[in-house]
Amino acid sequence: MTHPASPYLVPGFYDRALRDGRHRDIVGGRWDETGRLQLALLHAQGMRPHHRLLDIGAGSLRLGCKAVPFLDPGNYWATDASRALMLRGRAVELSDPDRLPEDHLIEDADFGFPGLPDRLDFTIAFGVFTHLPPAVTAHAMTRIAHRAQGFGVILFTVFIAPDGQEHAALRQPDGVVTHPDRPPYHLTETTLLAMAVDAGLAITRLPDRLPRGQVLWRAAPGTTG
Ligand SMILES: C[S@@+](CC[C@H](N)C(=O)[O-])C[C@H]1O[C@@H](n2cnc3c(N)ncnc32)[C@H](O)[C@@H]1O
Repeated sequence: MTHPASPYLVPGFYDRALRDGRHRDIVGGRWDETGRLQLALLHAQGMRPHHRLLDIGAGSLRLGCKAVPFLDPGNYWATDASRALMLRGRAVELSDPDRLPEDHLIEDADFGFPGLPDRLDFTIAFGVFTHLPPAVTAHAMTRIAHRAQGFGVILFTVFIAPDGQEHAALRQPDGVVTHPDRPPYHLTETTLLAMAVDAGLAITRLPDRLPRGQVLWRAAPGTTG
C-alpha cells in the first residue's frame, strides 16, 4: 500500500472533510485539551492580550477559538493550506467571530506569508511540521527565517527520533508511531539543527511535555550556538 506524503495533499481531502462536518477531526482531535495547551504555552512565553499572534497551519482554529477571545480584537492571524477550513472554524467555533476579521485568515500552502502585518509578537506552528515531509519542513523553516525579524517569539513542534533510530517506524512516548517517510514524520535532532542552520534560525528545545510526544522548539533569527 502506498501512503500520501501528507493526508492534506490528497485531492478533495478538505472538501470531503468539511462536507462531512469533520473539521475538528482532521486537525487531530483532542480539541479542548490541545487548544488550551497551545494557549498556555504562549502565555508561558509571555503572550498577553495586547500582543499579535500568527498561527501557521492553523486548521479549524483549535488554538484560534481560545486565542481570539484571549487577545484584543483583531490581534490573531492565521495561515493554512485550506482557507475553507479556517473559515469553518471561525463560523462554528468562535463565540464572537467579529473579533477575528475574515481577511486575517490567509490561504498559504507555500509558507509565503502574504498579507500579514510587518510586526507580530508571537508565531506558532503546532502539529504542522509533524505532517510535512522533511524537505517541506526545511523549506518552511527557510521561509520563516526570511520573516523571522517580524515574527516575534516563534514556537513549533516536531517529532524527534534518536540518532540511529530515524530510518524505521518509532513509537513515541505516549504511543503514536512516527515514520521517516510518511506522516506523522519524525526527524533526528541532528537533522533539525542542520535544517535550522541552513535556514538561518537559532532553535532551542523546550522541556514542555506535549500530546503524542511532540517536542516543542523556540526559534529566532540567527545561528544556534
Ligand atoms: C495536525 S493539523 C494542526 C492544526 C493546528 N495547528 C492545530 O493545532 O489545531 C495540521 C494543519 O496543517 C495544515 N497544512 C498542511 N500542509 C500545509 C502547508 N503546506 N501549508 C500550510 N498549512 C498546511 C493542515 O491544513 C492542517 O490544518
